[in-house]
Amino acid sequence: MSANTLEVNRTRFRFDDQDAVWLFGYGSLIFKADFPFLERRSASITGWSRRFWQGSHDHRGTLEAPGRVVTLIETPQARCQGVAYLVSPQVFEQLDFREKNGYLRFSTDMTFHDGNQTQGLVYIATPDNSAFLGPANEREIALQIATAAGPSGPNADYLLHLAESLRSLGDHDAHVFEIEIHLRQALK
Ligand code: SIN
Repeated sequence: MSANTLEVNRTRFRFDDQDAVWLFGYGSLIFKADFPFLERRSASITGWSRRFWQGSHDHRGTLEAPGRVVTLIETPQARCQGVAYLVSPQVFEQLDFREKNGYLRFSTDMTFHDGNQTQGLVYIATPDNSAFLGPANEREIALQIATAAGPSGPNADYLLHLAESLRSLGDHDAHVFEIEIHLRQALK
């Protein structure tokens, strides 16, 4: 699948019949909410793990030296902590542009901090997109992140902001926090 998902996303999970839709964010959408929203809540989804397995050519790296950003990988029993935003469906046009480097719209169930559940939308970069980099050990990932940068800034800022936000949410994501340790050493 092409890495540019802009066109295909316009035809997926449009929620046009609803006034407002819950969007689940688990990566930069947690710490960079540059879109209008009506409400923000801590939330989680089950059956998915957050992994720095997606390449970034357009935000945190370049075609020659891609950065690494997070996507979700199907993992039975796993729980991924993030943030849910209540948005107007028109916001997805703006988000499709931001997430165009490999991310597709999916419908998902999510659970709020208080235990209530709802359905909404999540952007996932699946392994069949051409920007997908796949697994590497946490140290290798950190070394790649340490040197990559793109139009949205250094790749390191993405990881450090995400790790900080997850701590604020009370989440312990072992994958993210181990990369953070190696990254801080590499940046010294
Ligand atoms: C997300 O944050 O939910 C998607 C991945 C990203 O934009 O970093």
